[in-house]
Amino acid sequence: MTMKLALIGCGTVGSEVVRLLHRQETDLTSRIGEPIEIAGIAVRRGGRDRGDLPVDPSLFTTDALGLVNRDDVDIVVEVVGGIEPAREWITTALRAGKAVITANKALLAEDGSALAQAAVDGGADLYYEAAVAGAIPLLRPLRESLHGDTIHRVISIVNGTTNYILSRMTETGAGFAEALEEASALGYAEADPTADVEGFDAAAKAAILASLAFHTRVTVTDVYREGITEVSAADIASAAEMGCVVKPLCIASRDGDVVSARVHPAMIPREHPLASVNGAYNAVFVEAEAAGRLMFYGAGAGGAPTASAVLGDLVAVARNRRAGATPMPPTVYADLAIRPMGDVLTRYHVSLDVDDEPGVLAEVASVFAAHGVSMRTVRQSGRGHEAVLVAVTHTATDAQLSTTVDQLSKLDSVRRVASVMRVEGEV
Ligand code: NDP
Ligand code: HSE
Repeated sequence: MTMKLALIGCGTVGSEVVRLLHRQETDLTSRIGEPIEIAGIAVRRGGRDRGDLPVDPSLFTTDALGLVNRDDVDIVVEVVGGIEPAREWITTALRAGKAVITANKALLAEDGSALAQAAVDGGADLYYEAAVAGAIPLLRPLRESLHGDTIHRVISIVNGTTNYILSRMTETGAGFAEALEEASALGYAEADPTADVEGFDAAAKAAILASLAFHTRVTVTDVYREGITEVSAADIASAAEMGCVVKPLCIASRDGDVVSARVHPAMIPREHPLASVNGAYNAVFVEAEAAGRLMFYGAGAGGAPTASAVLGDLVAVARNRRAGATPMPPTVYADLAIRPMGDVLTRYHVSLDVDDEPGVLAEVASVFAAHGVSMRTVRQSGRGHEAVLVAVTHTATDAQLSTTVDQLSKLDSVRRVASVMRVEGEV
C-alpha cells in the first residue's frame, strides 16, 4: 500500500516539504510503515519553472480543489496561507475523511473551531505544528505532553522579523526604519512587512497558543495587538538603563475563569530567559502548575525549519491512519471569558518631555496618584527645555494607565508624552 499526499502550495515552505520528502523517503517509509507518494501539487502559476525541485513536473496543477477531491488522496498538506480558498480546501478534505496538515495560522486563528468541527465530522486528523513558531515542537507538547498539567501563562517571542528588528536596534542603536531595512535586505521581512511589524502575525499565533494552553476558544479578535513601529532608539536606551531589553512579546495568561491574550513590545529584565533570544529566533516560555517553567527555543520561520514541523505532523497522521486510530482533536471544554485589555494588570515605563521647573515633578506625580497608579521609580535627565522624566510604575490596569497618560498630556508642563511601554517580569 502507498499513502497519497496532495500538496497545496509549493512556495517557501511547500518546496522544502517536497525536498524533505525526497531526501527522507526511505526513513519516512520505515517510520510510517508504508511509502508516501505525492499525488499532485497545486500552485497558482502552473507553468512556472520550479528549478531543481526533485519532483515530476506533470504533478503540478492549478486546480487545488480538484486535487483535494481526488479519490486516491489520503492526506492534504495546505501551505498556501490566507483565509479563502484555504478554508474551502481544508474543510472539504476533512469532511471527506482526509487528514489535513496546515501551517495556516491566519485561518486557524480566525476560524479554528469550524476547522476542528469539520475534522470531527469527517473523523479526520487536523494537525498544525508549523503554524506557530516554525520548527519548534510546541503545539503537540501543549496538546499532548502537558495535557495532565495546568498552564497558567505562556509568554513568548513568536515573530522572528520583529525580534530581529528589536535585536538590531539594541545591538547597534539603530532606529526602527534602519533596522527594518536591514531585515528586508536579509529576507526576514516580507515586501509588505505590515503583518509582522503591526503584530497581526503574532496575534494569530497568540490565539492558537491561548486556545491550546487553556482548552478554550480564543480567536484573533480576542487578542490585544500593538506593533513595534513606535519603538524608538530612546526606548531601547532607557530600557538598557533599567537593566532591561525591549522584546516583541506575546502573552497568554489564565486567571481563574478568565484568559487574556496580548501582543505588544515590552521591556523585560536582562535576566529573563526570553531576553537572550535574539535575531530571528523564537522562544516560548510556559509556566505550568506541576511542570514549572519550560522554555522552547529555535527557528520560528524559514522553508526548511517549517517543513520539518510539517513532516513531523505528516508522520503522525500517516501512522494514525495506518493504525485506524480515532482522531483526537485538541480539547476545548473550558468556556473561559476574555479579559478586556483595560483590565489587564502590568507595569509601565512612561517617558515625558517636560519643562525643568520647580513643581513639575510634584504635578506629574499627583496625576499618577489621582488615578491610583503608584510610581516605583522616577528619573530625570537633561535640563531646561530638554528635560526628560521617566517614570516606572507599580502594577496598574491598562485603563488606569491610559487615563493617567491622557491627563499627563494635558499638563502645561508636559510638552510631550514621548512613549509608554509595558514592563514585564521583575525589574
Ligand atoms: P509562499 O508565498 O512562499 O508560497 C505560497 C504558495 O501557494 C505558492 O506555491 C503559490 O503558488 C501557492 N498558491 C497561492 N495561491 C494559490 C491558489 N489559489 N491555488 C493554489 N496554490 C496557490 O508562502 P509560504 O510558503 O511562505 O507560506 C505558506 C504558509 O506557511 C502560510 O500559511 C504561512 O503563514 C505559513 N508559514 C510560513 C512560514 C515561512 O517561514 N515562510 C513559517 C511558518 C508558517 P505559486 O508558487 O505558483 O506562486
Ligand atoms: N513572518 C513570520 C516571522 C514568519 O517573522 O516570524 C513565521 O510565521
